[in-house]
Amino acid sequence: MTKPLNTFNSLLQIQKLDKFFGGLHAVNSVSFDVKPGIIKAVIGPNGAGKTTLFNMIAGYYTPGGGQVFFKDVLLTGMQPFQVAGKGVFRTFQNLKLSHRLSVMDNILLGRHTRGQAGFLAGMLALKKSRREEKEAEEAVLPILEWLNLLDLKDTEVGNLSFGNQRAVELARALVSDPAMLLLDEPAAGLNMHETEELSQRIQEIRDQGRTILLVEHDMSLVMEISDEIVVLNFGQKIAEGKPKEIQENEEVIRIYLGGEDA
Ligand SMILES: Nc1ncnc2c1ncn2[C@@H]1O[C@H](COP(=O)(O)OP(=O)(O)OP(=O)(O)O)[C@@H](O)[C@H]1O
Ligand SMILES: [Mg+2]
Repeated sequence: MTKPLNTFNSLLQIQKLDKFFGGLHAVNSVSFDVKPGIIKAVIGPNGAGKTTLFNMIAGYYTPGGGQVFFKDVLLTGMQPFQVAGKGVFRTFQNLKLSHRLSVMDNILLGRHTRGQAGFLAGMLALKKSRREEKEAEEAVLPILEWLNLLDLKDTEVGNLSFGNQRAVELARALVSDPAMLLLDEPAAGLNMHETEELSQRIQEIRDQGRTILLVEHDMSLVMEISDEIVVLNFGQKIAEGKPKEIQENEEVIRIYLGGEDA
């Protein structure tokens, strides 16, 4: 049985979110809360609606119904850059990096999507004054250092290993100093060593006081680092709880974990 969580003090509130694609009910009245400072995972089989849920939270899709609140501010109806401006930043399952641009330029583009100015103004701001550019670059350096990307800052992203490309995606999200990060399959395509490194990094990001909503298929990673887990299946929430509760949930085992080599 799903234990209702305490809605008091929640940072993100997802209320009855709904999305149809034609006749397909991709997200079916999904509700849950995310308390501040935790890692909450959203798991479920392929096509369960996880990315669609992220797209609705982050303003990429307009929900068919329902609402998302962040710190009691209604996010629903906002554009992605406005959601980012509130401190909620997402990464993408399929990396959206510009392969021909350097690591630094990819990250600065992420930085300028924050705030009222919007993406286009951000692009123009990149060209503004050299001094501003220098200041912006300096702000990025500690993040690059933390991600072991400092020596690669002028390298074209297309020439990086996949693991480092994923790290650039993370850096781009972090440089906006988000209160909340939505990570969509950050371990996809990573080897064991890179996954272990990612696991440490996600926990460090949480320990900085940020809140993380994590979509991930790597069950050992999810069970190791998550404080709470939501399980989706065919667009519906079928379970919610702590990792141990999810691992012992019969419906989850039957529908989802049973098919995993966990
Ligand atoms: N833009 C779209 N147009 C039509 N159908 C879509 C669209 N986006 C997603 N879908 C469908 O909605 C359902 C949910 O997709 P979604 O990408 O949210 O799943 P997911 O849980 O992220 O899966 P995965 O683990 O494979 O990434 C799937 O059946 C998918 O084919
Ligand atoms: Mg997905």
